[in-house]
Parts: sequence; C-alpha cells; structure tokens
Amino acid sequence: MRASKKTSSRPKLRSKKDGYALRCFACKETYAIDDYGKFYRCKACGNLLEVKRTGGLKKTRDAGSRLGVWKYLDLIPLWNEKNIISLSEGGTNLVECKNLANLLGLKSLYVKFEGQNPTGSFKDRGMTVGISKAVELGFNTVMCASTGNTSASLAAYSARANLHCIVLVPKGKIAMGKIAQAIAYGAEIIQVDGNFDDSLRVASEICESNHEILLLNSLNPFRIEGQKTTSFELVEQLSGRIPDYVVLPVGNGGNITSIWKGFSEILENGLEDIVGPHRGSKAPRIIGVQAEGAAPIARAFMAGRFDSIHPVMNPHTEASAINIGSPVSWMKALAAIRDSRGSADYVSDEEIFTAQKLLASKEGLFVEPASATPIAYLSKIARIGERSNEYERIKTSTVVCITTGNGLKDPNALLKDVSPASLRTIPADAKSLETVLVNN
Ligand code: F0G
Repeated sequence: MRASKKTSSRPKLRSKKDGYALRCFACKETYAIDDYGKFYRCKACGNLLEVKRTGGLKKTRDAGSRLGVWKYLDLIPLWNEKNIISLSEGGTNLVECKNLANLLGLKSLYVKFEGQNPTGSFKDRGMTVGISKAVELGFNTVMCASTGNTSASLAAYSARANLHCIVLVPKGKIAMGKIAQAIAYGAEIIQVDGNFDDSLRVASEICESNHEILLLNSLNPFRIEGQKTTSFELVEQLSGRIPDYVVLPVGNGGNITSIWKGFSEILENGLEDIVGPHRGSKAPRIIGVQAEGAAPIARAFMAGRFDSIHPVMNPHTEASAINIGSPVSWMKALAAIRDSRGSADYVSDEEIFTAQKLLASKEGLFVEPASATPIAYLSKIARIGERSNEYERIKTSTVVCITTGNGLKDPNALLKDVSPASLRTIPADAKSLETVLVNN
C-alpha cells in the first residue's frame, strides 16, 4: 500500500453526514450511520459493520498540537461537537525502552502506555466516541459485557453523560480494581454465571431485541473509530515515521481492528493536514498476541486459516482481560493480520507474568498481565533467536508494543507469588536497618 500525498480526490461534501456510511465488513452492503442501534449486524449476511468514509474529507478546524482522541474529530463520524463526552482520553506517552531493547537484542523498542488513560485502559479512546454517539443518537441506556476494562470505562463515561449503564461480567473472573471502578462510577452490575463469551451472548440478545439499549462492546463500530486514533498518535509521536511493527494483545479482536484501520486510513488518504507530514509508504506489520489458553485467532493464523476460527469452549488464562474463547471480531482481526503482512502467536501465563515483571523492573512501566503479552512475545522469539524468521526481521526494526491497561487494576495477579506480609520487616530504629544493609 502506498501513501498518497493528496488529502482526498473525492468530491466536496455538503455536510459531514454525507461523507460516512456503515458498511458490512464481509458483503460491503451499506447503511446509514444514524441507524446504528436499530440493528448491529448486516441485514443481508449477518456480519459485523464498520464505519466507511464515502465522500471527500472535510477539514473543519485546526485542532492544535495537543494529542488526544478529539484532535481527530474530522475523522470521526460525530456530527455535533456539543455531543462530545470526554475525560481527555488519548495522548498517552510513547516510551522508548532502551534497557529492554538491549536485553532482547532489538534495535528500537517503544511502548505506548495506554494505562495512562482516564480509567486506566485503552478502552477510553473507544468509549468517548461510543458514548458521544450514543448521546447523539438519543439513547438513555447503554450496556456491555466485559472482562473488566470495558465495564470500568463504559461506567465512567455513562456517569459523565448521565446515562443508565448496565454491565455484565463473568462471575469471579474479573480483577478487583476493575469491578471497584464500575461500582464507584455507579453502574448497574450484573454477574453472569458463565464466562465472557456467555456474557456477551446474553447482552447481545437483549440489545438486539430491545432497541432502547445500546450495546457498547467493540463490535460497536464507533468504538473502533475512537481506538483507531492510537495509530494517528503513533505516527505523530514518531515524528512522521510509520513503525515497522506494532505488537498488541488480542482478546475480542476490536483493538487490532482499530489499530489497522488507523494505519490504513493514513496510507490510503495521506491525512497530512490532520496527522501531520509522514514519511514512508509501507504498512506496519501488525502482530496479535493471545494467551495460550484462549488463542483461537493465533491458532487460526498458524494453521493458515483466515476465513474461520475454532472457538475455545473453556478458555483459561490468568490474564483475565483476554480470557475470551469466541472473539466477536475474529474476521476483522485476521484480516488486519493478513492485510498488514503481520502475524499472530500465543504465550503461556508464565511467560506473561515474567514479561510483566521485566517491563516494570527494567523500564518502570507497570502494566496489567494481558498488556504484557507483547513483551512476552518478544522475549519468546528472542529466546528462539536465529531460528525465528520474525525475530531476524524484528531485531533491526522499529517496534511499538501497545500496553493496553494499567498494572494497578489487577495487583492480586502479581501478588499471588509474593505476599506483602512475607516481605522483610525490621524494628523501627536505624540500628536494625544498618544491620540488615550490612548483611545484604
Ligand atoms: N488488553 C486489555 C487490558 C483488555 O482489557 C482487552 C480487552 C484487550 C487487551 C483485548 O482487546 O478485545 O479489543 O482484542 N478487554 C475487554 C473488556 C474484552 O471487556 O474489557 P480486544
């Protein structure tokens, strides 16, 4: 794919609304943007919908230099700025990780630290757009199923928008910090006696039959529009460079879809007056990483299959955020991997926890277990070394890992091996401390 210098050759628009449609990802049937919520899937073939720009791009404003989701309003299908519900999401740091790069034998490694978002995860990027659109479409009630972060984010944005928020969570399978957030933000929380896939099935059935409630899982294409801004920011933060590789965790498949959509829009349309000048015309290779016990997308890729997955009936990983056996956006996720000439792999829970500690102890970045999967993947291929074709390419490239959630959300996962009570204790005097230090 080549970057074009022009913004767009399409005809000028009368209004922003004329420039967007909902399009079926599979059969390409189109629908009006503002009909979303009356249905969630293509009426012709039942597949997921995506937002597609159908007309010329209308640059309406100078968004300034401050990074954040709404800097890219011109690329987001919201018609009225007054409907924006925001907590200043996005604009997260891109941290160069030289210690880790040296350790893994890599030339250039960065971490996009999405745990800096207002509720501590990348979900806020999608939720600010999803909730703003829910307000624009006139919904009063919203719902999601969640492994934790989506529910925390939806609850926060609903509180700010004064919407009734219902979250379904798999009983006993979500991290304490995340459930605490949903409670604090005032969501109606319902535990489902089953796993995440069961919870999403139940939520979808209710929202498909009750058009008063808008479903805000990542099958909602407006969420994808918010999350695609990660890619715009990356290009700006790398001073116009497109990274060679982007490595990220994959659960339901929404975020990998978004990241690829962002880069595709840059490569297809230039967008230079919005994301700034950029060099290079090559797409980044996108690498999706799953946990071994919940890896239907990675296993499909490894089998060379892009047209179906085998769902995992009883998924299991301690990285609870990505404990998903039947990812709803599998088709989009596999397309992102194929079209970017990327790949997918899985890592064990042990590799995940080792990577979590490595990133914290070498770079000062504390991420939740699911978010450590990209580092676990890089460690895994570095261990295999020359026998891994991917490692041979990656080690001389610019690699960006997306660390999706903050480590403080799930401290129990880390503390299961090291109980704070077992840490060394001394009497409260300097002599005791001296004795300990001398004996070190
Ligand atoms: N990382 C974290 C921290 C997550 O919470 C999730 C998904 C992912 C990665 C995977 O992203 O689903 O777009 O492929 N969490 C969802 C939730 C499922 O309910 O919070 P994905």
